[in-house]
Amino acid sequence: MAEPADRRTLGVCYYPEHWPEERWPVDAAQMAETGLTWVRIGEFAWSRLEPTPGDLRFDWLDRAIEVLGAAGLKVILGTPTATPPRWMLDKHPDMLAVDKEGRARKFGSRRHYCFSHHGYREECARIVTLLAERYGANPHVAAWQTDNEYGCHDTTVSYSDAARAAFRTWLARRYGQIDTLNAAWGNIFWSMEYRTYADIDLPNLTVTEPNPSHVLDFLRFSSDQVVSFNKVQTDILRAHTDAPLIHNYMGRVLDFDHFAVGADLDIASWDSYPLGFLEDRIDVDDAWRRRFMRQGDPDFQAFHHDLYRAVGRGRWWVMEQQPGPVNWAPYNPAPQPGMARFWAWEAFAHGAEAVCYFRWRQAPFAQEQMHAGLLRPDGEPAPGLDEAAAVARELADAPAVGDAPKQAAIVFDYASVWAWTAQPQGADFTYFRLVFAHYRALRRAGLNVDILPPDTRDFTGYGLVAIPGLLAWNESLRAAVAGAEGVVLIGPRSGSKTAQLSIPDALPPDMQRLGVTVERVETLRPDAPIALQGGGAVTSWFEHLDTDEQVQEATVDGLPVVIARGNLRYVGGWLDDVAMSRLIETSASAAGLDVLHLPDELRTRLQGGARYIFNHGTETVRAGTWPGVQDIPAAGFVRLPA
Ligand code: GAL
Repeated sequence: MAEPADRRTLGVCYYPEHWPEERWPVDAAQMAETGLTWVRIGEFAWSRLEPTPGDLRFDWLDRAIEVLGAAGLKVILGTPTATPPRWMLDKHPDMLAVDKEGRARKFGSRRHYCFSHHGYREECARIVTLLAERYGANPHVAAWQTDNEYGCHDTTVSYSDAARAAFRTWLARRYGQIDTLNAAWGNIFWSMEYRTYADIDLPNLTVTEPNPSHVLDFLRFSSDQVVSFNKVQTDILRAHTDAPLIHNYMGRVLDFDHFAVGADLDIASWDSYPLGFLEDRIDVDDAWRRRFMRQGDPDFQAFHHDLYRAVGRGRWWVMEQQPGPVNWAPYNPAPQPGMARFWAWEAFAHGAEAVCYFRWRQAPFAQEQMHAGLLRPDGEPAPGLDEAAAVARELADAPAVGDAPKQAAIVFDYASVWAWTAQPQGADFTYFRLVFAHYRALRRAGLNVDILPPDTRDFTGYGLVAIPGLLAWNESLRAAVAGAEGVVLIGPRSGSKTAQLSIPDALPPDMQRLGVTVERVETLRPDAPIALQGGGAVTSWFEHLDTDEQVQEATVDGLPVVIARGNLRYVGGWLDDVAMSRLIETSASAAGLDVLHLPDELRTRLQGGARYIFNHGTETVRAGTWPGVQDIPAAGFVRLPA
């Protein structure tokens, strides 16, 4: 496998099949002239590679790769499995994913396949093998992308017949005797006991809620299907190429375990659409949306940068970067001038090796005709092009990616996403929102944040680690907490269940060094927070704690909320922004970290021996906000020696 890149690079997503062949050399030359290194192609081109079953037409792709490579570009070749052509349905009428209501999802867009369908997997293995054999050693193909955005458009979970058959096999492997499953799920309740695996159905269309343990196992299974689907492709590619294998994950897609998929890949990448995300997948109010409508949320992209650094075990890219308005959010504003440059630099400041813009030229047809590219539909430059060229010039004499100091970390666990989806207990309890509230507070305090997988064994080097909303303890994490030298924040809800989603014998948090027992929990209406003595409040989720330990935060009625013992803290409620920032700041200070109080629009990151400061606002931030900093323009940043 290739060595990690120390030089940062730019690229773009390109669809040669959308344009006349005479245009390819013109585009390629202009990409090179812009300073781009990478060009990703091919990921939706199956109907042109194989217009009818077995009729293979790779000649155009040979020429496209040659033209791009001859211009000095490196190709990322995508496997086309996210867009099975229409004829595939004639061969495999039951390959479609099925929604929760039992309706097959139709042909006419993309990602319509069910991950569990054997016939479709074989078709994928076939086309990937053909591509790998043909291009695995091609000198211009310098990286591969598997499929496109697993899980996007709500496509991880399918209630198909294929999924049901595969789920039964998966369960039988996991539990062995059927009575083991009955006991683990608690199926004596409501006479839900099964006599054989063949009795078990998928947990949809039940009269009232299905057993949450059944749901959780189905979500785990659905995640495993993505992992094994991807592995079919990586096993084939590895046999034919030494180029790095990458997948492009999508923002806030949480229904499969990205750490598990990432284990079979060399580099993680994700698709960053800051303005689209702000409109359609961040829990903020309209005033915040308005305020950041042309810049994007100050923390959402950074969270994913930090997440994918972990998923890629240090190696990660942005595979698609919004360069102008997108088409798919409820509202699609244009970025503030400078943001296409700013977003790229923000990624580099989090350790990205490469940033690729989506897409080269705006398509005049079909679903994304209103989605900007670096070129307009007529082929002339769009505003993003100059900004991309500016980044390319800046990269020429920028320092290497370098390392980042460890400061704070958050444990992020996909099984906890699924568990609290199966059993929210309060309508607004979502694991992502809870984790992101911690992340935002850590960023407001000016700290570098690492995201850690749930099997982390060791917290060495971190001053502060948060473990919010963890479904169940595992031995690694217990060892990491036991050995931690920094402050560890545990809770709310952490360790409150078994891995099968039942209440454990020892009530939570079941952490011996913390003399705390959660005796009861309640969830709160959004308009009924519980005020804290120190200011701020508990919202959404409140735990009644039995403890003799030192109380660090209490409600105005004197009920304990945050408990401290040594370097451990137990947090028995969902703290609002005010209380969360206080907890993060006191904990970080206790751990000896330098704490800042950043305004909403300013964020900072230490990377490669430099301190970056980003202004996500619409106004210049004046000198003096920071020692040694002159003005930071809107959509601008500074890089100082750390
Ligand atoms: C991504 C996807 C691209 C394109 C883009 C538009 O989710 O991977 O193919 O659809 O969104 O913003």
